[in-house]
Amino acid sequence: MANNKLKHLAIIMDGNGRWAENRGLKRVEGHKKGAEVVRDITTYASNHHSIETLTLYAFSSENWKRPRLEIEFLMKLLDNWLKNELETYHKHSIRFQAIGDISKFSKKLQKRIYDTQEATKNNKGLIQVLALNYGARYEIVDTINRLIKDNIEISEDNISTHLQTPYSDIDLLIRTSGEERISNFLLWQLSYSEIFFTQTLWPDFNPQELEYIIENFKNRKRRFGAIF
Ligand code: IPE
Ligand code: IPE
Ligand code: MG
Repeated sequence: MANNKLKHLAIIMDGNGRWAENRGLKRVEGHKKGAEVVRDITTYASNHHSIETLTLYAFSSENWKRPRLEIEFLMKLLDNWLKNELETYHKHSIRFQAIGDISKFSKKLQKRIYDTQEATKNNKGLIQVLALNYGARYEIVDTINRLIKDNIEISEDNISTHLQTPYSDIDLLIRTSGEERISNFLLWQLSYSEIFFTQTLWPDFNPQELEYIIENFKNRKRRFGAIF
C-alpha cells in the first residue's frame, strides 16, 4: 500500500462568495469567514508531522476584474488579518511568505506584507505562502526573463530553482467549491501533483475534511511516469 509523504500542500480557497449568497449575506461576509478558516487550516498544517509548506491562493492576477468595492474589502481584510495573525505565526513558529506581484497593492499593504515576512523570517516551523496578485504564467515568464538577464541557462532545474516559489514541487493540490480548474495557479509546480476537488465551500472547510483528504492522498499510487 502506498504511503505518500505530504511535504507541500497547496489550496485554491474558492467559494466564499457563494457561501455568503447562500445565506442571503453580502459576498464580503464569505471572505471574512474564509479568513478564519485560513487560520484553522494553517494551525492544523503547522502541527502536521510532514507538511513543510502550505501555499494558499488568496488573490489571483485576474481577480482585479471584480467590483472595486469587493477588491477594496479584500485588501483591507488582508491588512487586518496579517496584523492580527502575527501572534499565531509566532505561537506556532510559522514563517510567512508572499508570492505574486504585490507592487500593485497600496504602499501600506506592501509594508504590512514585508514587515510580516521580516518579523517571521527566523521562525522554523511551517512556511505559509500566500499567493497575492499571483498568476502562474506571469511567474514563469518573469523567471525566464531573469535567467536571460543573468546569463543563466534556461533549463528545467534552473527555472525550478529561480521561480518566486522555490519551495519544492507540490504534492497535493486541493480546490474547494466544486470548480474543477487551476485558474492560473502554480502551473509549473503542479506538474506531478495529486489533485483533490471538494464540493465544500471554503468557509465550510475544516481540519477534519483536510485530514480525510490527506488520508486519500497517502493511498494514491504516484507513478511519475514509471510502472509500479
Ligand atoms: C475565493 O472565493 C476568494 C477569492 C477569489 C478572493 P470567491 O470570491 O471566488 O467565491 P465564489 O467562487 O464567487 O463563490
Ligand atoms: C481562484 O478563484 C483564485 C483564488 C481562489 C484566489 P476564482 O474564483 O477567482 O477563480 P475562477 O474565476 O472561478 O476561475
Ligand atoms: Mg471563485
